[in-house]
Amino acid sequence: MADTLPAPRLPRFVQLYHEDRAAVREELLRGLQAPRPSIAPKYLYDALGSRLFDAITELPEYYPTRTEAGIFAAHGAAMADHLPAGATLVDLGAGNCEKAARLFEALRPRRYVAVDISVDYLRHALGCLQRQHPALDIVGVGMDFSQSLALPPEAGAAQEGPRLLFYPGSSIGNFSPEAALAFLRQARAACAGGALLIGVDLAKPAEIVEPAYDDALGVTAAFNLNLLLHVNALAGSDFRLADWRHRAFFDAAASRIEMHLETRQALTLRWPGGERRFAAGERIHTENSYKWVLADFDALLRQAGFAATRHWTDARGWFAVFAAQAGD
Ligand code: AVI
Repeated sequence: MADTLPAPRLPRFVQLYHEDRAAVREELLRGLQAPRPSIAPKYLYDALGSRLFDAITELPEYYPTRTEAGIFAAHGAAMADHLPAGATLVDLGAGNCEKAARLFEALRPRRYVAVDISVDYLRHALGCLQRQHPALDIVGVGMDFSQSLALPPEAGAAQEGPRLLFYPGSSIGNFSPEAALAFLRQARAACAGGALLIGVDLAKPAEIVEPAYDDALGVTAAFNLNLLLHVNALAGSDFRLADWRHRAFFDAAASRIEMHLETRQALTLRWPGGERRFAAGERIHTENSYKWVLADFDALLRQAGFAATRHWTDARGWFAVFAAQAGD
């Protein structure tokens, strides 16, 4: 009799994010009609946007991903010594899950929980990951954690041991300092006595930061402009890519890169039931990316209630990874 192969394990999936089309449309149109128009950066990540972001991370100008990976490679074992062993590893904004997967050996998690708003992309990534790690308990959570970090029970109940929250890539930089503090307070509560491992891009001269957000190949421009196609799909607007250009500049006083989309000439944007006139050179603000000073970020973690913080940086001091204990 032929042997039957055991059925391959499939990652569990919890879908908490259900797009409320009407609310999304209302939010987008409110932003577009404001005196200083803006679109929230989460709308950069539709299926194509997620792929364009992956391409950005490979650009020579975009130093954060490469620099952070170097820090993990050099100091991953030291980090593991400072973090709870056998924890539930909760990967916030998991994307293709590659960063967390590279740390499995050092961190030896009992369960891997990947959280992302981009659900189809996450499902695909977790399917591949489960084939590579057939024994690991993998859970996917489709969730928008930018407002609330209330994790579902599948993300490991408190009695099952500590959680290790993983928030790499300096995604914290896309929050204002006030919003970052609020997010870190929620993260501390979500740790259930465990710890946080977080990547932070550090303040540096504009000559280094600006090309990272305005690369010669135009991938970041495509990433930013693709937002308009996503908004067309969500709100029924009639953005035409040829009317807009990508802008990115460093505001040294605020220590942040700002991304905008700027009109090439005056135009009227229309959507079902409304329109807005844009002057030539008028901008829609699409993203901020804050660059932190080491001591200020350490103080922010403590203000959020974390203790025993430690950090590791690269030789140039461009990027830092912090490990912080949530305490009781
Ligand atoms: C996801 N986030 C940390 C990126 C950043 O660097 O702020 C998003 C990004 N925007 C343009 N390039 C990359």
